Amino acid sequence: IKRIGVLTSGGDAPGMNACIRAVVLTASAYNLDVVGFDHGFNGLLEEDYQTLLPQHVQHIIQHGGTILKSARCKALHTEQGVIQAAAVLHKLQLDALLIIGGDGSFRGALAIAPHYRGQLIGVPGTIDNDVDGTDFSIGFATAIDTALDAIDKIRDTADAFERIFLVELMGRHSGYITLSAGIAAGAEQIICPEFGPVYKNQLSSVIGPIQHAQLLRGKTSYIIVVAENSYPGGTIALAEDISIELGTECRACILGHIQRGGKPVGADRILATKLGAYAVEQLTHGAHLMMAGEINQQAVLFPLAQTSDKKKQIDPYLVRWQQQIASD
Ligand code: F6P
Repeated sequence: IKRIGVLTSGGDAPGMNACIRAVVLTASAYNLDVVGFDHGFNGLLEEDYQTLLPQHVQHIIQHGGTILKSARCKALHTEQGVIQAAAVLHKLQLDALLIIGGDGSFRGALAIAPHYRGQLIGVPGTIDNDVDGTDFSIGFATAIDTALDAIDKIRDTADAFERIFLVELMGRHSGYITLSAGIAAGAEQIICPEFGPVYKNQLSSVIGPIQHAQLLRGKTSYIIVVAENSYPGGTIALAEDISIELGTECRACILGHIQRGGKPVGADRILATKLGAYAVEQLTHGAHLMMAGEINQQAVLFPLAQTSDKKKQIDPYLVRWQQQIASD
């Protein structure tokens, strides 16, 4: 192969820049030209691209966001869109396309595949860590530290007021961020899809442990971390319903997109560098329709088609432990 394209797609994740850098530097070592598309697959469809040379990726390893910008691409859900994407790849004489993103972005790549003669490879970049075939995705470690920093601050004010706080964390339909940040912050309760649903007007599963804790430990702060999309009406509605049920103030804090920004932590920079480099190297060996992941510290290829086949499991040991201490 001689020429490859790269893009970042879907929710940006800290470490995407480190990955772009590794892709460009590795490609240069293999004498491959690199073209970077802006705004994810939209840039591909609109032929919005730039040649990437090693000097373009200097000193970006420490920055959050992505120099290539990111977006979700509705057009790629249409037959016309995927045909057009493949046509642009052919027109630009790209032998391969490297997609840094989550499972949604990989589905986009899979849709293009039947129309494209070149190679397609994915690198998992999402704070959600919900992609199968890799222990961690780029951005997850940073997002946890960002969430922890915020939850620790909330603990200070919650302690001062002896309040119950709900902190909503991202993860779309996965509790990975919520469980991890909740455990590391010493949250009293964790609500995420994997722990089972919480229904309105049936709040005993949430209220019971709060009452129990207050009984055992007296008045104290009580933090519940909640994965987004966990409660009908949202986390603010849940805080209001808990306030009414308990007759005591319960506040909600939605961390939101703060979790997506910031300097990538060391672990994300290293993972991003390793997976970006590995993906390029594997392209030169003919890898196609694969994702470059890391399992037990080994860089591995995993079929792109299976990255969202089964829902990535959150740590069952920590789930059990959390449920045990919440009910004690
Ligand atoms: O997939 C990353 C993510 O940040 C999810 O955690 C969240 O549900 C979603 O993206 C938010 O997307 P948007 O930035 O489009 O609101």
